[in-house]
Formats: sequence, structure tokens, C-alpha cells
Amino acid sequence: MAKIPAVGLGTWKASPGEATEAVKVAIDAGYRHFDCAYLYHNENEIGAGIRQKIKEGVVRREDLFVVSKLWCTYHEPSLVKVACKKSLKALKLDYLDLYLMHWPMGFQPGEEDVPLDLCGVVIPSDTSFLKTWEIECHPYLTQKNLISFCKARDVSVTAYRPLGGSREGTDLLNNPTIRRIANHYNKSCAQILIRFQIQRDLIVIPKSTNPKRIQENIQVFDFELTENHMDEIMSLNKNLRLATFPTTESHKDYPFHIDF
Ligand code: A2P
Repeated sequence: MAKIPAVGLGTWKASPGEATEAVKVAIDAGYRHFDCAYLYHNENEIGAGIRQKIKEGVVRREDLFVVSKLWCTYHEPSLVKVACKKSLKALKLDYLDLYLMHWPMGFQPGEEDVPLDLCGVVIPSDTSFLKTWEIECHPYLTQKNLISFCKARDVSVTAYRPLGGSREGTDLLNNPTIRRIANHYNKSCAQILIRFQIQRDLIVIPKSTNPKRIQENIQVFDFELTENHMDEIMSLNKNLRLATFPTTESHKDYPFHIDF
């Protein structure tokens, strides 16, 4: 059975200027899982970091778990291979460990990542799909039901935006409960948010391009949250979804109209 390293480096918004260095720092810090995507427009730079560390002999390709994602404008069956090859070429790899569908909605193929009509609404493509499971998950969106659904079917789940996204996103990293728990374990708030997901048996992909924070975010295997602390963090849930992708709300396959 394939195994996914529990902590992976998130790379959305890692600018091309920062991505190579972030990957190198992360590999040195012990990361072996990299969460990439065509849409992030930085796979070239990530690939450069990976290649350099392989060249230096720090890791072998088979030690790494590299994820990429099929963008919505490539859902047509004839385009899937094209998109996958683009990512492989950029990452300078000959295989991926996991290729996800980025969002479960097909868009009109073309140059634009998100093709919009004159009203600013996404133009769909007429494709259908199977289900994939990388979901937004943090204490404000704990996803209890969806996760039990997946667990009952042996589907592994990866939590994205585990820290609540960029600092303008939420106050999760300053939440008083998280802060109190962090002080209790002498850990940072980010480490509590990451450890929380690990103890739920989720895979978790905190994004950082800052060397100190990249290292900090994988130092989460030397402590354990008590059941009470886990419950307390779970109770912060307010079903607050940060990644809502408003321009796609009228798409027939928009995934967030149904409550789950
Ligand atoms: P940076 O890349 O400058 O470290 P998420 O993974 O939930 O999307 O959150 C990513 C955001 O959290 C980024 O803005 C990232 O900024 C920031 N971040 C990552 N790790 C930490 C940390 N340990 N402490 C504080 N902020 C962090």
C-alpha cells in the first residue's frame, strides 16, 4: 500500500522567486511530501529545488512523495495527459506519486486558468469526473462528517489551509484557545494546528516559504495533544470556509452548495 508522509510542504502562493529555496530548506528539514499544482505556476522552481537535492545526494526520488493537480481547464480526456506531462516536465520528474483533480469542476479549455463570461461567471466544460479528497480543513472548518464519510470508505484525506491561509485569511494563528494550548505544550500555534490534524489521521500540508517556519512546521512529532485539548480545538468549528471560489458558484458541479 502506498504511504503518504503525514506532513507535506504546501506550495500555493510560494512565489517562483522563493519556491526553489523553500523546497531545499524543507528537504533539509526532513520534508518528503510536496504538494504542488499546475495552477500555482511555480512547478519549474519547485522542480529545480528537488533536482538539486537529489543531485547533492540528500534524497532519492523514491524517498519523496510528490503531488500535482490537474487544473480544471484540462478535464477533457484528451487533455489530461497533456497537463500531466506539463507538470512532470516542470517538476523535472518522470512520475508523480499522486495526481489529484484540483477542483471537481471542468472549465472551458484555453489560455485562461479561470475562463469567465461577460458577467464574470466561470465558463464550464461538459465533462464528468470521479471523486477526489483534498479538502480545506482547520479548527474553524473541522469537516467532521466529510472525514467520517471518507474514513468509512478507506479514502485518505489531506487537509489544506491547515493554518487558516495567509494572515489576512483568519485569526486562527492568534486564536486565544489555540494560543493557550500552544503555551501549555511550549509549542507555536502553527504546530498545534498541524498536530491537531495529524491526530485526526489526516495528511496536512502547511504552506511556508520561510526557512524558520518550514522547519517549525515539521517539528510536530515530539508531543501529543490530550483528548481534552483535541475536543477543545474541535469545538472551535464554525463551518467557516475560506476557499470558496465565488466565480464558479453557478457551475453545475460546484462542490460547496451541499452541506456535508
Ligand atoms: P509564510 O510562507 O511567510 O511562512 P496555510 O498552509 O493554512 O495556507 O497557511 C499559510 C500561511 O501561514 C502563509 O501566509 C505562511 O506564510 C503562514 N505560515 C506558515 N507557517 C507558519 C508558522 N509556523 N507561523 C506563522 N505563520 C505561518
